[in-house]
Amino acid sequence: MEQDPRIAARGRSASQMQIEVPFAAKRTVATKAKAKTKTKPKRGRARAPSKPTPRRGRQEDLAQTLAGRQREISVSEFFAKNRHLLGFDNPAKALLTTVKEAVDNALDACEEANVLPELHVVVTQFAEDRFCVAVEDNGPGIVRGQVPKIFGKLLYGSKFHSLKQSRGQQGIGISAAGMYGLLTTGKPVLVMSRTSRRATARRFEVAINTKKNAPDILLEEETEWEKDHGTRVEITLQGTYKKGRHSIDGYLKQVSVANPHARIVYTPPSREGNGETIDYDRTASEPPREPKEIRPHPHGVELGIFLKMLQDTKARNLQGFLRAEFSRVGQKVIEDLGVELAAAKVGVTTRSHPKRIAARDAEALHQALGRIKIMSPQTDCLSPIGEELLLKALESRVPADFYTTVTRPPAVYRGNPFQIEVGLAHGGDLSGDDLIELYRYANRVPLQYQRGACAMTKAVVDVPWRNYRISQSRGALPTAPMILVVHIASVWVPFTSESKEAVAHYPEILREIRLGLQECGRRVALHIGRRRRAAEEHKKRSYIQKYIPQIGIALQEILGLSDRSRDKTVKTLTDVLERSRKM
Ligand SMILES: Nc1ncnc2c1ncn2[C@@H]1O[C@H](COP(=O)(O)OP(=O)(O)OP(=O)(O)O)[C@@H](O)[C@H]1O
Ligand SMILES: [Mg+2]
Repeated sequence: MEQDPRIAARGRSASQMQIEVPFAAKRTVATKAKAKTKTKPKRGRARAPSKPTPRRGRQEDLAQTLAGRQREISVSEFFAKNRHLLGFDNPAKALLTTVKEAVDNALDACEEANVLPELHVVVTQFAEDRFCVAVEDNGPGIVRGQVPKIFGKLLYGSKFHSLKQSRGQQGIGISAAGMYGLLTTGKPVLVMSRTSRRATARRFEVAINTKKNAPDILLEEETEWEKDHGTRVEITLQGTYKKGRHSIDGYLKQVSVANPHARIVYTPPSREGNGETIDYDRTASEPPREPKEIRPHPHGVELGIFLKMLQDTKARNLQGFLRAEFSRVGQKVIEDLGVELAAAKVGVTTRSHPKRIAARDAEALHQALGRIKIMSPQTDCLSPIGEELLLKALESRVPADFYTTVTRPPAVYRGNPFQIEVGLAHGGDLSGDDLIELYRYANRVPLQYQRGACAMTKAVVDVPWRNYRISQSRGALPTAPMILVVHIASVWVPFTSESKEAVAHYPEILREIRLGLQECGRRVALHIGRRRRAAEEHKKRSYIQKYIPQIGIALQEILGLSDRSRDKTVKTLTDVLERSRKM
């Protein structure tokens, strides 16, 4: 598909921006350091140990010493030390997380440009624990000036400040993967990108300077590339290649189930070089509906963010601010708020200047907003996979004999719209001896770790599967030849941590998942019931076919029947048994 060249230029650079450093990363070392003061034990009479009381001068010296050690911690240094927060806790997980971050970005970029994604993922093994991950997409490419910051600076991206359904949220993913690669192998990230047929392709080598959280560009040059537009990212890192549940193969297969419009060609590593290529071809020929960006809902904004919005706004009065910055604020809401503020005796009116509202009044205003009725946020901003496409994708990827899918209507948690989808595949070649496989997805991204901490697992475990003819031990996933898919699409997925591995337990989310699972459960129960009846029928029929002719032969011998009478008797007996069986 031809890409609109304006897309690459259109505001990608404008919308990509630095994200403010989170509180945790801004702490100084002061909180960790403790004063250690030694006092010499006095000779002579033994005295009860008393707390040392350093003299004033010494205390001052100590404060000066500590002051000398206190300094800002760069966000990259923080995450380099706490890499587990971003999913790089061990070599196997690091390899999968790197593939995941690059694939997420590639799919996001293609969707933003309304291009049907074609991804090439190549993992090459150099040594026992050293790999190179290369992910190439046919997206809009990245403008030249943005490449260094995207790959060499943490907390830099285009998605954090917008409420829009996308795979990326935080502006950390790909630079963190690059940083992990640099820390473990010393190799920079290689990037190749081209924004249109008219533009030349460029090649970069970017390393992150963790002390400054800034990029070092080691190389930038023009290059030849047969692609009209797209990006190729190569990261060399220490890793472990695993088969099975947390394998890259399994991950990409799951990606293809939730992204039926994408083609993913994967070349795994092998001892001799590269292994045989696996082609997950697309099962849908149209890109998904483009998710719309929305403004926050007044009930979904926390106090701290609300205070900052009051300071940052250009509006001259409160009503202008609320109308401009939030969704679902109309005349009625403004009037109700005015009444509520007067009733609660808050020293603010809807005409007050936002920047001049005192902190205490702002808190009362925030509470008053929470008390008034406001229409739920619009939900057309969501882009679910859809029942039909999810069904088709499951049929083509999972060898079962019964499939069903449910897309629930959109709902809202804490002012954020979300939508749940559930898919179920049962029987066929799936193994029935183990716990079922649960594919968890958030905005079409498979979640691989922290299964036990995720709202999706809890919802599945809490459904009484025995009511649906599926066996289940108490407090566990069911045991059956079954795969369950649970997908949450939302403008802001409430993950339990920065590594985006588990969804938080919001009651509204749990409820929607449960309703989807129960609907699928009812359908599979009907299917299992039908299958059991058919099997019993078959068994009874086979008894009749097996034993009645023998009875005919016995009767012939006892009663001295002719062959004709024997056959007639057999036929009569068969008819009578068939009729009585059906009654
Ligand atoms: N393959 C790509 N094509 C085009 N733009 C890209 C590509 N990869 C990354 N980007 C841009 O770089 C930005 C930073 O990517 P990064 O993965 O670090 O953060 P993110 O995707 O915004 O959020 P998250 O940390 O949740 O992944 C993205 O927001 C996007 O604008
Ligand atoms: Mg990302």
